[in-house]
Amino acid sequence: MEYVTLFSFLLGFAFLAIISGRRNSRLPPGPFPFPIIGNLLHLSDKPNQSLATLAKRYGPLMTLKLGSKTTVVVSSPDIAKDFFQTHDHAFSSRSVPDSGRVVNHNKYSMVWLPVGDQWKRLRRISKERIFSEHCLDASELLRRKKVDQLIDHVNHCCTSEKAVNIGEIAFTTSLNVLSNLMFSMDMAQYESESSKEFKEAVWTVLEVAGKPNLADFFPILKPFDPQGLVRHGNVYGKKMLTIFDRIIDQRLQTRSSSSATTKTDVLDSLLNVSLNEESKFSRNDMRYLFYTLFVAGTDTTSSTLEWIMAELIKNPDKLKTARSEIIKLTKNNKKDIQEQDISQLTYLQAVIKETLRLHPPVPLLVPHQAIHDVEIQGFLVPKNTQILCNVWAMGRDPKVWSNPDSFIPERFLEVNIDYKGQDFQLIPFGSGRRICPGLNMAHRMLHIMLASLIQKFDWKLEGNMKAQDMDMNEKFGLTLQKNTPLKAIPLKL
Ligand code: HEM
Repeated sequence: MEYVTLFSFLLGFAFLAIISGRRNSRLPPGPFPFPIIGNLLHLSDKPNQSLATLAKRYGPLMTLKLGSKTTVVVSSPDIAKDFFQTHDHAFSSRSVPDSGRVVNHNKYSMVWLPVGDQWKRLRRISKERIFSEHCLDASELLRRKKVDQLIDHVNHCCTSEKAVNIGEIAFTTSLNVLSNLMFSMDMAQYESESSKEFKEAVWTVLEVAGKPNLADFFPILKPFDPQGLVRHGNVYGKKMLTIFDRIIDQRLQTRSSSSATTKTDVLDSLLNVSLNEESKFSRNDMRYLFYTLFVAGTDTTSSTLEWIMAELIKNPDKLKTARSEIIKLTKNNKKDIQEQDISQLTYLQAVIKETLRLHPPVPLLVPHQAIHDVEIQGFLVPKNTQILCNVWAMGRDPKVWSNPDSFIPERFLEVNIDYKGQDFQLIPFGSGRRICPGLNMAHRMLHIMLASLIQKFDWKLEGNMKAQDMDMNEKFGLTLQKNTPLKAIPLKL
C-alpha cells in the first residue's frame, strides 16, 4: 500500500513538474508530454510520418520529449536555414544514439564525434584522400568497371528471365565500389555464397543501428542493453574491424617487401598519412574511418537507387523520357554513359532529385545537438537539445511543392534547385558543417548506375504484378527502405 502511495506521489510530482516546466519554458510548442515516457506514444513505427502530422498542428518548429530527451523538430526550409546556416556551429554537435556504442565507434567515428580537432582531422583527410573532385576523377574508371560488372550480372538474369532484387544488387555494387577504392579488391559477390562474411557484417551493423532502442529514450537502461542490440552489433562490428586489421597487416607486409608493386588505393594513401607523426592519424583512426564509410555509404546509395527504379517502373512515361535522353546522348546506345556525361543528362538528374525529395534515405538527417542555448524565431533551444530535421516532411509540404505526393521530375527542369546543401527545400544530404562528405561520390554513383540500368534494359515487375499495384510503403530504419523489396525482371531492349 505504502509503495502505491509513494508511486502515485512521484507520478503526480513528475506530472506537475512537467506542466510547470512547460508553462514557464520558452521552448517551441509541441504536444503535451506524459510523465516518464514523454511523447513516445505520439510516434508510430514511421516517426518521419508521425512527426510530419504533428508539425501540421504545432508548426515547423516543435518540441517533443522522447522519453527523457528534449527534442526539437525542424520541418520547414526557412527554419532549417536558421539551424544549418545562420546557427550552423551551434547545432553542429551530435546526439549519439545507444547504437553508437557498438565497437565504441562513438569515440572514433566521424559520424558521432563532436565538432572538434579529431572530427576536423577526419573530415580533412577523407576530403583530401577520397572525396575531392580530383580523387573522384581519378577513381572514375574503377566505378565504371564495377557498374559494367553489375550490368553483366543483370544481363545474366535477363537471359534466364530471373527477377533481380534491385536494392540488393545496388548494395553489392556500392560495397564493391568502396572496397575497390579502399583496398583494390571486391568484398561482395552478386550470387555466390563465398565472401558473404563482410557483406553480412555490414548489413547486420546497419540493421542493429536502425532498430528502435529503449535505451535511447531512457538512458538509465543503457548499462543493461535491454534488447541486446549493442551486444549483437558488437559481434558483427568486431568482425568488420578484424577484416580491416587483416587487410592492413597484409598491406604493411607487402609494402615492406622490396619486390612489391605499390598500389594507389585509399589504404596506401592513408598508410602514408599515418607514417607522418604530425598528421596525428593513427592506425585505429584508419580502421574506424573504413568502418564509418562502409556503414554510411552503402545502404544510403542502394536504397535511393531502389526507390528511383520503383518510381520509374510505376511511371513508364518518365522511364521512357529518361531513356530517350540517354539514347540520344550515346548516339543510339553506341557507347556507355560516363561520369562526364552526367551534366548533359538533365532529365536523369531531375529524376534523381525528385526521388530524393519524395524518399530521402535519411529522413530525419543524423540527429544534431545544440552546443549552447540558441534563440530561434523567439523560442529558446536549450543546450544539449536533440535536433531532428524532417526532410521527408519538407519534401512533401504543399506550401513548398505543388502536387507534392506525385512523382514529377519535370518540376526540376523549371527551377534551379540542387541537393548540395544550399537550397533548403531539398537537403537529403544535410547542409552546413555536417553535410554528407560522400555527396559527390553518391551523386556520380547514382547517375551512372541508374543510367546503365535503364539504357540497357526495360523492366517489368516479378509475377506479372501491375506497376500500379506495387507496394510503395516505407519501412523506417537506419535508412528509409521500401517496405517490400523491389524485384523486377530485366528485358532486352
Ligand atoms: C552524413 C545522406 C551517401 C558518408 C550524412 C548525413 C546525411 C547523409 C543526411 C547527415 C547530415 C547531417 O547530419 O546533417 C546521404 C545520402 C547518401 C549518402 C542521401 C546517398 C544517396 C554517402 C556515401 C558516403 C557517406 C557514399 C561515403 C562513402 C557519410 C559520412 C557522414 C554522412 C561519413 C557523417 C558526416 C559527419 O557527421 O561529419 N549522409 N549520404 N554518405 N555521410 Fe552520407
